[in-house]
Amino acid sequence: MKHIFQKGTNPLKPTLLLLHGTGGTETDLLPLAEKIDAESNVLSVRGNVLENGMPRFFRRLAEGIFDMEDLIFRTKELNEFLDEAAVKYEFDRNNILAIGYSNGANIAASLMFHYQEALAGAILHHPMVPRRGIDLPDLSSKRVFIAAGTNDPICPAQESEDLKSLLDQAGASVELHWENRGHQLTFEEVEAAGKWYKNL
Ligand code: MLT
Repeated sequence: MKHIFQKGTNPLKPTLLLLHGTGGTETDLLPLAEKIDAESNVLSVRGNVLENGMPRFFRRLAEGIFDMEDLIFRTKELNEFLDEAAVKYEFDRNNILAIGYSNGANIAASLMFHYQEALAGAILHHPMVPRRGIDLPDLSSKRVFIAAGTNDPICPAQESEDLKSLLDQAGASVELHWENRGHQLTFEEVEAAGKWYKNL
């Protein structure tokens, strides 16, 4: 997968996996990584799917309606890419913290839904429930921060509540942070994610 890897200064810190929103690239979220932890490795990946020229991490049939077959395939592809990247760049495969926005948050959540050891934790900006009706792995040691907008037309508030409760039920420790805004990634929610991260 097309990506950027930046080696951090402190090998004990998690590797920050950056996953952009629809139409983004691997450079979009680099400032977020700097804000969350300037000492961490950064692995920023570009989605392999194109929708009218816009990169995404998996196909969708319509707004908010995911192509499940492709979601499952792309989640596996990304998980395998993480296995390979950990060997190539010599970082701890068991200490990856994803930071995703929108479509990138959805594939990060999908990694957690499908693979117990894919991520140590995640900061999910405006995610949806990636897939319903499956048993999640035991996520008891996992930490998740969800930032959601009360007026988000793409991710209705119930999606955020449902995602929190599914992750809670799987044993994860989840903080749900609300902004009185829409789908945009706000400065305030990045600040809140930074505070959450510092208390891990
Ligand atoms: C998705 O397709 O993953 C979500 O609807 C969010 C987005 O527009 O990327």
